[in-house]
Amino acid sequence: MSALTHTPVLLNSVLSLSDPQPGEIVLDVTLGLGGHAAAFLERIGRDGRFIGLDADAENLRSAEERLAHFSCQKEFHHGNFRELPALQLPQVDVLFADLGLSSPHVDDPKRGFTFREEVPLDLRYDRTSGQTAAAWLARASEADIVRVLREYGEVRGARRIAVCMATGEVRTTFDLKRCVEAACGWRAPSVLPQVFQALRIAINDELHALEVLLQAGPELLREGGRMVVLSYHSLEDRLVKQAFRSLSLPEKDTETGAVSVPARFALLTRKPLAPEPDEVRENPRARSAHLRALRRVASISPH
Ligand SMILES: C[S@@+](CC[C@H](N)C(=O)[O-])C[C@H]1O[C@@H](n2cnc3c(N)ncnc32)[C@H](O)[C@@H]1O
Repeated sequence: MSALTHTPVLLNSVLSLSDPQPGEIVLDVTLGLGGHAAAFLERIGRDGRFIGLDADAENLRSAEERLAHFSCQKEFHHGNFRELPALQLPQVDVLFADLGLSSPHVDDPKRGFTFREEVPLDLRYDRTSGQTAAAWLARASEADIVRVLREYGEVRGARRIAVCMATGEVRTTFDLKRCVEAACGWRAPSVLPQVFQALRIAINDELHALEVLLQAGPELLREGGRMVVLSYHSLEDRLVKQAFRSLSLPEKDTETGAVSVPARFALLTRKPLAPEPDEVRENPRARSAHLRALRRVASISPH
């Protein structure tokens, strides 16, 4: 098993909102190293069923090994949750998503996400498909790069950094670092993570994938089923908040304002849950986490 680890974020809150019960079906669409999954498997017991998905084949393998000793029915899929509608999965009791990257992406230089070592600039979760960040930069126009830096990283001085990034010479993580240093001077250490994040979101098409998940996911819930999403970026949290809010509104008669169709979903979190300072101290990667949850309400059977 990989020596790299990832500490599951907001584990107690995830468990209390998702509330997995013995015999239930759990779908974890961002399995990572299986930290949250291990806790789900403990709860659903040997009569439960677990389905895990991850775009990163290496993480998926590590999680599979880590979870091998649980005896319930388990399935592991290598894929992107963008493909959820095509995966023909069963209705589930719990759907969990813990967005973004895992610690090994940052800690293992081979994955091409770190700016602490010089490695080819990759930034893909799924290294079996799509183009690397270096390949994208080789072809992107300055205007494309500026848009990505501004939209996904809220990067100040985006144009100056993009001039260097658009030369076609950015192949490694250090090439990118040098562009940011040349453009931002003493501000570079605080800008660099924003630039990496912006490129990562673009290369993995993260916001579009999340939109698909937010459309397809709630429909996969059984009556009473819970969908729980952990996000780490304001753009992601806004999408989750808007989708969950609109799903939890009843349809109303336009003339009378009376409820014509009751809401099929109920919010379990009016405000997002965030980690306590203690958790952030122990696991700094938890600092920007926002947790939101939704429940599919049981339909009222007609008399
Ligand atoms: C924050 S980590 C999950 C950590 C996990 N909860 C744990 O406790 O070990 C996010 C994982 O989701 C994967 N991922 C990110 N975007 C994805 C997507 N669109 N589809 C499938 N997996 C994705 C990443 O490869 C990474 O392994």
